[in-house]
Amino acid sequence: MKLRILVVAGDGIGPEVTNEAVAVLRDVADLGGHTLEITAKRIGGVAIVQDGTPLPAETLEAALASDAVLLGAVGGNEFNSLPPDKRPEAGLLQIRAALGGFANLRPAFAFKELAVNSPLRPEIVEGADILFVRELLGGLYFGKPREWNRTTGEAWNTMRYTRDEVARVARIAFQLASQRRRKLTSVDKANVLEVSQLWRATVNEVAAEFPGVTVEHQYVDAMAMHLMNQPRNYDVVLTENLFGDILSDESAVITGSLGMLPSATIGGKVNLYEPVHGSAPDIAGKGLANPLGAILTGALILRYSAKLEAEASAIEAAVRKVLERGFRTPDLARSNPQGFTVLSTKDMGAKVRESVKTSLVNA
Ligand code: IPM
Ligand code: MG
Repeated sequence: MKLRILVVAGDGIGPEVTNEAVAVLRDVADLGGHTLEITAKRIGGVAIVQDGTPLPAETLEAALASDAVLLGAVGGNEFNSLPPDKRPEAGLLQIRAALGGFANLRPAFAFKELAVNSPLRPEIVEGADILFVRELLGGLYFGKPREWNRTTGEAWNTMRYTRDEVARVARIAFQLASQRRRKLTSVDKANVLEVSQLWRATVNEVAAEFPGVTVEHQYVDAMAMHLMNQPRNYDVVLTENLFGDILSDESAVITGSLGMLPSATIGGKVNLYEPVHGSAPDIAGKGLANPLGAILTGALILRYSAKLEAEASAIEAAVRKVLERGFRTPDLARSNPQGFTVLSTKDMGAKVRESVKTSLVNA
């Protein structure tokens, strides 16, 4: 098969980690006789500097003409004083809106080998396997009105959802739950917010279409605590946009590092794939970044955009293999460094490629 991927590597560690993800994808495609057509365009801070806008028209056009978009990261300290609509992050929000994917899947899987890297006790994190489904195109991120009125000294954003917006993302979450452990936890703040009451009522309506899935509702504050106390209790966790942003970063504690988390955004014209981590400007360009989140994101491209499930699983298995063999990037070697071989971004990518090749050739 033929797959056209647009890579928008962005800022900070984005280029380093997407390079490794692309190298893995190329190897897998070559071995399987698939054609990968990779194009690269600018987004975020690099685009502000070179093109004067965080999402150049050329990038958007290329994105809409591709089968999948792989994004690295956006943002940098030099842009911190800009208003939200001029920042690198605006480029990301604009491309999300234009591609139309509303269901952002963020698997938080606790590799056993990384349990010692979590500040939580190993017996709490081991076996945790959560799939966050974060609504990505509504809520406070996109709701209007929004403004900072400097004259009156007031500012406001709007957490707005329509019933249809909640129903469509809930349906995807229920479908995914029915293929997993058949439990869905919906997160809201229905004890305070009308928008959360609409959310909860709509999730209950959609639940009626999926009698095989058990549904429960949690308030977001309690959920933040439960995730740390008993992460194994959760299967699919459905959230609105901002709650999902917060809880998915929190879940990095379960997996051992933010550098491990992939994501896929589906439901729109073109799927968008991005590791959950940011641009990490403090370590950019030093070969210290963990490419595994980006590589696992590459696996999601194969799963959701190419329907190459065996190849996607092979990449995930290869990541597990290199961890089993004691290879770590610095973020994964905070505890017990003596037993580990600490690798650069590139060398970690190479280890995964070696392992994927071995498993696909022997398959
Ligand atoms: C994420 C990020 C983005 C978000 C930022 C960079 C706009 O934190 O993907 O989680 O808030 O959605
Ligand atoms: Mg975030």
